[in-house]
Amino acid sequence: MNLILLGPPGAGKGTQSARIVTVYNLVQISTGDILRAEVKSSTELGKIAKSLMDDGKLVPDNLIIDMISGHIEKEAGSSGFILDGFPRTEEQAKALDVMLLEKNLKIDYVIKLEVDEKALIERVVGRFSCGDCGQGYHDKFAPTKLTNICDVCGSKNLVRRADDNVESMTARLVAYREQTEPILPYYEKKGALTIVNGMKTPEEVFEQIEVVMS
Ligand code: AP5
Ligand code: MG
Repeated sequence: MNLILLGPPGAGKGTQSARIVTVYNLVQISTGDILRAEVKSSTELGKIAKSLMDDGKLVPDNLIIDMISGHIEKEAGSSGFILDGFPRTEEQAKALDVMLLEKNLKIDYVIKLEVDEKALIERVVGRFSCGDCGQGYHDKFAPTKLTNICDVCGSKNLVRRADDNVESMTARLVAYREQTEPILPYYEKKGALTIVNGMKTPEEVFEQIEVVMS
């Protein structure tokens, strides 16, 4: 089973992917996570991506398409994957169709998480995670049990993303509205798109996703 999780920054794509991965035994392919790893390793791609990501702008399509192709190829024999943060432009959506055709794969569900803009900003600005084990937190919605200590691994290395501030988030929302929202009709026409209310609790959002995937 393969699915695409669509939605604006902070909609809960990563949060829901983590749940889907566990329950459905799928692999999460997050272009944002892959790019952040490239930035951390200071690769050529990482160097190009860093300032664009910090400014809330999209990384050029050709770089993203080259980057994702190998990841999809790798999962061709697995029980399936979740595309989190890809495709994000019409060109990426079309390139994905070509890749799927070549690899004899198909997307079973396209799920869009819908969340109010005010809530998105609050979610993103309050987000942090453990720099050691990756567990995600939120100042208000999912705080650590002990101040500044990861619940899972006990690390004090809690980190925030460089683009999780009001300025970058404003630009990310513009990029989403201008470049990503226009691909929704593409999937709607294929009859593949389901809209899920992302304003509920993470558990309730997941229950809606389970209904779609049943
Ligand atoms: P990416 O990493 O994909 O970021 P994004 O799309 O902006 O989305 P986020 O990861 O910020 O949010 P999310 O939907 O995963 O929400 P989360 O579950 O964490 O991309 C980053 C950058 O990389 C882009 O700006 C671009 O530069 C580049 N890039 C990536 N892909 C690209 C592509 N395909 N093409 C070109 N460039 C690309 O949740 C957010 C917070 O809310 C968390 O704190 C969480 O705890 C909380 N939360 C989640 N669900 C709920 C809920 N139901 N109720 C309350 N709080 C909740
Ligand atoms: Mg994410």
